[in-house]
Amino acid sequence: MFDPKIGMVPPMGWNSWNTFSWNINEELIRTTADTMVESGLLEAGYEYLVIDDCWSLRKRGEHGELVPDPEKFPNGMKAVADYVHSKGLKFGMYSCCGTHTCAGYPGSFEHEFEDAEQFASWGVDFLKYDNCFKPGHIDDPTLYRRMSTALRNCGRDILFSACNWGTEDVWNWIRSSGAQMFRSTGDIQDSWKSMSDIALSQMDKQPFSGTYCHNDMDMLIVGMHGKSDNDFIAVGGCTDVEYKTHFSLWALMNSPLMIGCDIRSMTEETKQILTNRDVIAINQDVECRSPYKVQCFGWSEKLFVLAKPLANGDYAIGMFNFGDKRAEAAFGFWDIGIPAASGRGLEFYDCWEHQSLGVETERHAVEIDPHDCKIYRCKVVKVR
Ligand code: GLA
Repeated sequence: MFDPKIGMVPPMGWNSWNTFSWNINEELIRTTADTMVESGLLEAGYEYLVIDDCWSLRKRGEHGELVPDPEKFPNGMKAVADYVHSKGLKFGMYSCCGTHTCAGYPGSFEHEFEDAEQFASWGVDFLKYDNCFKPGHIDDPTLYRRMSTALRNCGRDILFSACNWGTEDVWNWIRSSGAQMFRSTGDIQDSWKSMSDIALSQMDKQPFSGTYCHNDMDMLIVGMHGKSDNDFIAVGGCTDVEYKTHFSLWALMNSPLMIGCDIRSMTEETKQILTNRDVIAINQDVECRSPYKVQCFGWSEKLFVLAKPLANGDYAIGMFNFGDKRAEAAFGFWDIGIPAASGRGLEFYDCWEHQSLGVETERHAVEIDPHDCKIYRCKVVKVR
């Protein structure tokens, strides 16, 4: 049954929570599926369409089954899944390891195996599994192993997206639970502060992420511009430059790329960010090697450089200015394994400008606007 492509590199898709939260229904899912195809998002790699919390009735049915809310989903979930599949997309749903979901709907605690089979019967390809309303005597490793085992034995390939917000040192045990991705932080908000705090909090966690088990830094806020039905998330929005930096960080740090904005009304700038193939290629690199901080003349939380080795021998380099003033960032090639004596330099390709910048030796320095970044793909070349 197992398809080795599932979860190998960071999953990409769209999730309903950031913008719509409880305001979800079949029409939204159908029109979003249409847009994922027509706008080129599917072609760029976004294949999962995921319905988050608030899709069911408040109580299970008489046989203990989860019941889709008939007002939101009048044709049931199989019909939604069929439509999503007919567009060439994969279908994701949501449940919780506790007795209730975070919004108070039935959770899968002690219903794990029957729920997994129900999801499989609807044609679900992805399950996000939250962390609310847990009985106090059971720890997360036990609860996530349970659902993982249930999914692995439900008769369908279902990607397991664990969402315990980084608690109980999740990075130590999540890979062996069987999950393909794991949320490592609390919920993102649509602001520069929330996004940049999440990124900084995960710098030292990078080595725990890799093929088949990816550090999920939460759904993207790219393109939300302060628009959400959820007041916790709608806290002002970011500029397009900040969204570009956000996307660059999530890509370079190997996070799953799950879009959170209303793509049906996204701007051209949003689309350009989300479909940047050069940046996506860095995220989807087959080896999923973690980036490291380049120790270039100190590493500060305002100005820093990340380097990620890619499968073909290239480097992905990200240079970030989290400060409030334009500033010069620089790194020496000796700090990423290329001493001048090697006779090698780097040929720079700018992944946002989509152009080659030529070959440099020993060092690269560049001025970066506040909250902006540079993402390069660098080829190691002989210079003498
Ligand atoms: C938690 C999760 C969010 C979202 C909500 C739904 O807060 O972290 O991503 O799924 O629950 O209630």
